[in-house]
Amino acid sequence: MDDLRQAGRSAADLVADHLTAVPGGPVWRPVPDADRSWLSHQPLPATGRPLENLLHDIRDHVLPYPMGNGHPRFFGWVNSPPSPAGVLVAPLAAALNPSCAGGDHAGVLLERTAVRWLAELVGYPHPPGAGLLTSGASMATIVALATARQRAGHREGWDVRESGLYPHRPLAMYLSAEAHSCLRKAAELLGLGSRHLRTVPVDGAFRMDTDALRRLIAADLDAGVRPFFVTASAGTVNTGAVDPLADIAEVAREHDLWFHVDGAYGALGILDKEADPGYAGLGLADSLALDPHKWLGVPVDCGCVLFRDPAGPRDTFSLVPPYLRDDDADELGWFSEYGPEQTRSFRALRVWATIAHLGRDGIAQLVRRTTGLARTLAAMVEASGDFDLLAPVVTSITAFRHRPAAMDPGEVEALNQALPIAVQRRGRAFLTGTRLSGTAALRACILHPATTEDDLAVLLDEIRAAAKELTA
Ligand SMILES: Cc1ncc(COP(=O)(O)O)c(C=O)c1O
Repeated sequence: MDDLRQAGRSAADLVADHLTAVPGGPVWRPVPDADRSWLSHQPLPATGRPLENLLHDIRDHVLPYPMGNGHPRFFGWVNSPPSPAGVLVAPLAAALNPSCAGGDHAGVLLERTAVRWLAELVGYPHPPGAGLLTSGASMATIVALATARQRAGHREGWDVRESGLYPHRPLAMYLSAEAHSCLRKAAELLGLGSRHLRTVPVDGAFRMDTDALRRLIAADLDAGVRPFFVTASAGTVNTGAVDPLADIAEVAREHDLWFHVDGAYGALGILDKEADPGYAGLGLADSLALDPHKWLGVPVDCGCVLFRDPAGPRDTFSLVPPYLRDDDADELGWFSEYGPEQTRSFRALRVWATIAHLGRDGIAQLVRRTTGLARTLAAMVEASGDFDLLAPVVTSITAFRHRPAAMDPGEVEALNQALPIAVQRRGRAFLTGTRLSGTAALRACILHPATTEDDLAVLLDEIRAAAKELTA
């Protein structure tokens, strides 16, 4: 163990040196050919080498080329910097290396607490056992949708686990035009068919139009299709919009639909008192996805799915062969009975440490600070003569577009399509693009606790500079 102790100390220094240097370096830079070749084409080593020696390679070839999300001027997609507490405890989880499928050990007990804490943070009801940590929201969505599908089968008098989908009339699900692609992936994977997926239009603030939802449901009922699932977003990936959750919950109740909320990114926004009223109805969801590896900063990977009733996922996934039988298990059974995965990693330690370090107040402060910065960026955009704000700011995403003077609409469109990559390549800020109402848009998602107003000014200047390069 002496070599591990020694190398571990060096690794701790390397981690601290790296994290200290990040804000002063480029946000992102291309991997030069030599390092690209080293990273991609190493031959399989025939013999091993000392632990300490591995760290030199990591220092020279890996750490210099991050994705960028550790930097305060990273505004791309929905990727946060790692929480210091999460970084601290990750090696300890590896040292223990349990499978959190189940059993009687610290990993399982702490996951129950981590899941309960997440539910309490966002004010979602939490009967014991009603949730589990996942790889991310994509997996959380699969677990939720499979559970909803199972319930729909029971309501119609058949068992999806036994019969598959064969004997049944189509099941329709409803999601807004702004819902994340993981919902469609889950529907396709679970055999529901994207043909039975109804895209509900959104209003001018990119929130689901519930009258349109009602019309789509009525049309399906007329056509003999069984409406069974509606998903709302608590923080869309494009603009951070929060759908009218209480209204959608009401429609779900009227039509016996499973009500799922995708709060992968935005559920924590409920901690910002300015946005809070928009979250009314979150607690009515049958299932809620929220990702600790997003706003909370738990190092990747870590998602979570919560249920109102633990019986649903257990009914959907529990399968206990003789070699996994555990006569000592409590009434909640094993986590592997609530989802598709058997061996499960000790994600709970990173969640526990992150929440324990920040506390509820620290997390609320992070949320308020970042949503405040998103509103500041929106104000800067509106005050400028060469940017347009494209959506109201509700959480910590600002959606906008660059519109330099004397450019026609076609040129503005082409410019905004090209800008994200051009800004990224300059290395001083990182943002990504999307499409809103059919046009190219820029979006900045602010998750870093160290981002400042000056960083926002740099972002806008970098966009202007990249635009000049592109049009020169
Ligand atoms: C709103 C929303 N839902 C779902 C997802 C998918 O989450 P994951 O990448 O953790 O699977 C994302 C990812 O950014 C998201 O922003």
